[in-house]
Amino acid sequence: MERISRNDRACWVLVGGRHRLGRALAEDLAQDHDLVLTSSAPWDGESWVDELSKIARIRRLRWDAENPDLVSRMMADMDTLQADGWVISGAVILAGSFPESPLGTWTQEGLEATWRLNLGFPFLCAQALAPRFAEGSCLQVLLDTSIHRPWLKRLPYSAAKAGLAALVPGLAQLLAPKVRVVGHALGTVLPAEGSDAAFLAGRTLLKRIGAPADLCRAVRFAAASPFLTGEILTQDGGRRWVDR
Ligand SMILES: NC(=O)c1ccc[n+]([C@@H]2O[C@H](COP(=O)([O-])OP(=O)(O)OC[C@H]3O[C@@H](n4cnc5c(N)ncnc54)[C@H](OP(=O)(O)O)[C@@H]3O)[C@@H](O)[C@H]2O)c1
Repeated sequence: MERISRNDRACWVLVGGRHRLGRALAEDLAQDHDLVLTSSAPWDGESWVDELSKIARIRRLRWDAENPDLVSRMMADMDTLQADGWVISGAVILAGSFPESPLGTWTQEGLEATWRLNLGFPFLCAQALAPRFAEGSCLQVLLDTSIHRPWLKRLPYSAAKAGLAALVPGLAQLLAPKVRVVGHALGTVLPAEGSDAAFLAGRTLLKRIGAPADLCRAVRFAAASPFLTGEILTQDGGRRWVDR
């Protein structure tokens, strides 16, 4: 099976490749990749994807963490991609949520929902993708600088990302040497609604929040670094070295 799909363009899957950082990464990668983009919602009204389709082969899938048939849905979609000649050589798992959930507000339902999307879903996506990767592929997972210093008002989210910090080296061992696995522990890039970007920037060594280009550059670096696996790259402007 060949790794390269068409005109030397690699085929990558972006799980959560529709909004925010996922869209920014899709727009960057489409310059020289064919892309499978997943979203939890039906795909319509996304003219930017139609534009990208002029320069890249784009396939849109619906993968919803809340779908009880998610695992069989993912398997069926991967079968279809394979049958259609897509040979996957990279994937980035971006899907998640960033719920504020202070101590005292925790409920079984709330915790399960946070962990289903931010922990269980990436595990299931990685499991669905793993057997489909071509030799030399790189699976990348979005984490958070909270793996170093948890967000105190978002401990359930931080715990989910800490779980992904175990997935990265574990999966790297299970999938080596065929597939490499890399995590990205990001500081604030696109602040949550209502948060103070200037305040967040002030709490970094570099006195700025990140930009989507910072993630795109690191994703390309990881994909192009064949001696790199099981590692989590932190990009947080030095946030974790600044006192509260
Ligand atoms: N933004 C930042 O500054 C920042 C900082 C640190 C870490 N990160 C991490 O980077 C990743 C991307 O962050 P982001 O801020 O761009 O996006 P985000 O708001 O955290 O969410 C990413 C995507 O998850 C998808 N999603 C939501 N519910 C879903 C469900 N039930 N099933 C499947 N997918 C679902 C949504 O896409 P659809 O609606 O299309 O499904 C959403 O666009 C996340 O993992 C985040 O934790 C981000």
